[in-house]
Amino acid sequence: MLELIKERRSIRSFKEEKLSEEAVKEILRAGLLAPTSKNKKPVEFVVVEDRETLSRLKFCKDKGSNGLDTAPCAIVVIGDAEKSDVWVEDASIATAFMQLQAESMGLGSVWIQMRKRRSCSDDSEKEVRKVLNIPDKYGVLDILALGYKNELKKPYEEDDADFSKVHFESYGRK
Ligand SMILES: Cc1cc2nc3c(=O)[nH]c(=O)nc-3n(C[C@H](O)[C@H](O)[C@H](O)COP(=O)(O)O)c2cc1C
Repeated sequence: MLELIKERRSIRSFKEEKLSEEAVKEILRAGLLAPTSKNKKPVEFVVVEDRETLSRLKFCKDKGSNGLDTAPCAIVVIGDAEKSDVWVEDASIATAFMQLQAESMGLGSVWIQMRKRRSCSDDSEKEVRKVLNIPDKYGVLDILALGYKNELKKPYEEDDADFSKVHFESYGRK
């Protein structure tokens, strides 16, 4: 598991090759099996492969969405705010699980934040809801851009784990 965690890096440039239906399903399975508070399962996904829709999604955010330029697939991660007050946490865990599943399949991914972000004219969540016909009760956490990697990134090493952030028994004790 730690090897997989070290290998995962944000990939923002992808090859043209599409993902198979089964590959996308495997990644979704990881998200659907992630834990949720009180097991309420408020998280849902919108899979987008249409190039025009992908580029409309890119413009739902004013910067930091260039991963959508080449991604052949994106999973939009949404949460039913009426079902759970902690849908953000649940949706975050689901996204992280899907990133690790993608990595384990040799695929690249990047988390593109939408919640609390803006396009050049409006709130990013509102824009995404408009593009994808998502009902208002859903929050939009992020868009996970996915595909075969077209850039090489160095995996993390053991020493990159900064243990100065770890405190034992009480804050400040090393
Ligand atoms: C909550 C969150 C929001 C992020 N938002 C974006 C984003 O909007 N665009 C982007 O390209 N990367 C985004 N990232 C990816 C981070 O920039 C990246 O994880 C960080 O720089 C560390 O690099 P690494 O993923 O290669 O380890 C986000 C990551 C997280 C966890």
